[in-house]
Amino acid sequence: MTEDNTGGRRLRSRDWFDNPDHLDMTALYLERFMNYGTTPEELRSGKPIIGIAQSGSDINPCNRHHLDLAKRVRDGIRDAGGIPIEFPTHPLFENCKRPTAALDRNLAYLGLVEILYGYPLDGVVLTTGCDKTTPSALMAASTVDIPAIVFSGGPMLDGWHDGDLVGSGTVIWRSRRKYAAGEISREEFLQSALDSAPSIGHCNTMGTASTMNAMAEALGISLTGCAAIPAPYRERGQMAYRTGRRAVELVQQNIKPSDILTRAAFLNAIRVNSAIGGSTNAQPHLAAMAKHAGVELYPDDWQTHGFDIPLLANVQPAGAYLGERFHRAGGVPAIMWELLQAGKLEGNCPSVTGKTMAENLEGRQSTDREVILPFDAPLKERAGFLVLKGNLFDFAIMKMSVISAGFRERYLSEPGKEGVFDGKAVVFDGSEDYHKRINDPDLNIDERTILVIRGAGPLGWPGSAEVVNMQPPDHLIKQGILSLPTIGDGRQSGTADSPSILNASPESAAGGGLAYVRSGDVIRIDFNNGRCDMLVEPEEIERRKADGIPAVPADATPWQMLYRRTVTQLSDGAVIEGAADFQKLAEKLPRH
Ligand code: FES
Ligand code: MG
Repeated sequence: MTEDNTGGRRLRSRDWFDNPDHLDMTALYLERFMNYGTTPEELRSGKPIIGIAQSGSDINPCNRHHLDLAKRVRDGIRDAGGIPIEFPTHPLFENCKRPTAALDRNLAYLGLVEILYGYPLDGVVLTTGCDKTTPSALMAASTVDIPAIVFSGGPMLDGWHDGDLVGSGTVIWRSRRKYAAGEISREEFLQSALDSAPSIGHCNTMGTASTMNAMAEALGISLTGCAAIPAPYRERGQMAYRTGRRAVELVQQNIKPSDILTRAAFLNAIRVNSAIGGSTNAQPHLAAMAKHAGVELYPDDWQTHGFDIPLLANVQPAGAYLGERFHRAGGVPAIMWELLQAGKLEGNCPSVTGKTMAENLEGRQSTDREVILPFDAPLKERAGFLVLKGNLFDFAIMKMSVISAGFRERYLSEPGKEGVFDGKAVVFDGSEDYHKRINDPDLNIDERTILVIRGAGPLGWPGSAEVVNMQPPDHLIKQGILSLPTIGDGRQSGTADSPSILNASPESAAGGGLAYVRSGDVIRIDFNNGRCDMLVEPEEIERRKADGIPAVPADATPWQMLYRRTVTQLSDGAVIEGAADFQKLAEKLPRH
């Protein structure tokens, strides 16, 4: 063992800071780090240089507290014998970036790849929180394959309004229905939303942020228990310190993402997603992360491995509670413990703790059975994603954990036709069209209508938008019909509780079947056989192809142009075509 505990391995940072063959370059690499007080002795000591990929800023409020938490990460890195270097990542603020933050996930990925590859870093702490900050960071860490560990910023405290729990995002979808029914005023709508955000942190529901941090933990790439600790809790700062320490040890032990992110780990993540009632956005994000990790993950894996898993987490939008109660009930480890006992988790998967998943989960049984239910007495059976295909698309998913008893009763229990629903399509081209026309009486929307939206995929939007959870027209809501079946080539918010058929691939703008459906067509959804078809003769579909694909907006920025030239479909993770050909970049040093 050398002084730096790497067992004699020369760390990549030494090629910059301690390179006798290139004294001139070493001098250049070193000198500017001195100007804020770093010493040449530190940088030339051979100690691991640990990057802190800082995703927090004023423009990403969900992650902003990482600016403070990074101090504890630094303490941990120093105490374990490493040297921290903090740098910013491209901001990804879900609620605010137009036309959608999804457009920027691949941009943030590209930026981080260049940093991790092109600078003298031996390992990295990936600070995560808001939806796409987790997948973009893990996609990049996989491409470069340097030792990496995820550190979540944690959710906000629970929100309360008028004595009720109000959760991020979910409150918006629920309040807008109440507003449409005339039950609440504009002021109350606004105030209930503001009350859902009582502290620093990311969304406190099991939306995409909490889901993706849970996925990181399920994959084994963050410390056990990291995902669910609320942002303001003292445990969050302690987790920061421990994560910093562990990042140094990962470099010393040369544990890389490729050692952890295996197919078995991704299948564990899919199962955990069902059990937590996780976001439908986990589908494209896990697909993208697997692609860059060089792991085969198939769209049907969601059905094969995830569908039969029961819902165990009683957390909004599929359940009742929010992040604080979930954490106190045991968080992600307690969910995984249930799955492990039931034989539904691969316990031998390695993790960044240096132990196997099964070892990490010892003694992690839940202490609050109202919030984390036992596997054999769950909140809902078979709560994963249903995978659908047919002449409208080759792939789409439906989140079964949010399908209400009322919806099941109304649409899926017709005597003699259980599980099959025929509805008349009303088709919208983009969300502006939907908002303009949804209350138009001439559309004759009733409870047998299927709402269809297209032009909302990666190419069409561009970026793929969370617009498929379309609300029924006001007159139906006033009658108590709070949701209709919806279909679209976009996504829906992870905080939504709508029974939507989502992520349809290929999208309309890529010439998928949705491009050729017309208002008035009958669409048959056959839940038992995983089919979704327009009941239109093939010859008629061929005739309609002559009309072309519905138009989508032109590129508005240079990145939109590049994004559209390179992006794949949601079934495939909406990654950059060809980017997954680049694997394990850190095995070779970049030229001077
Ligand atoms: Fe950032 Fe939900 S908007 S976490
Ligand atoms: Mg979202």
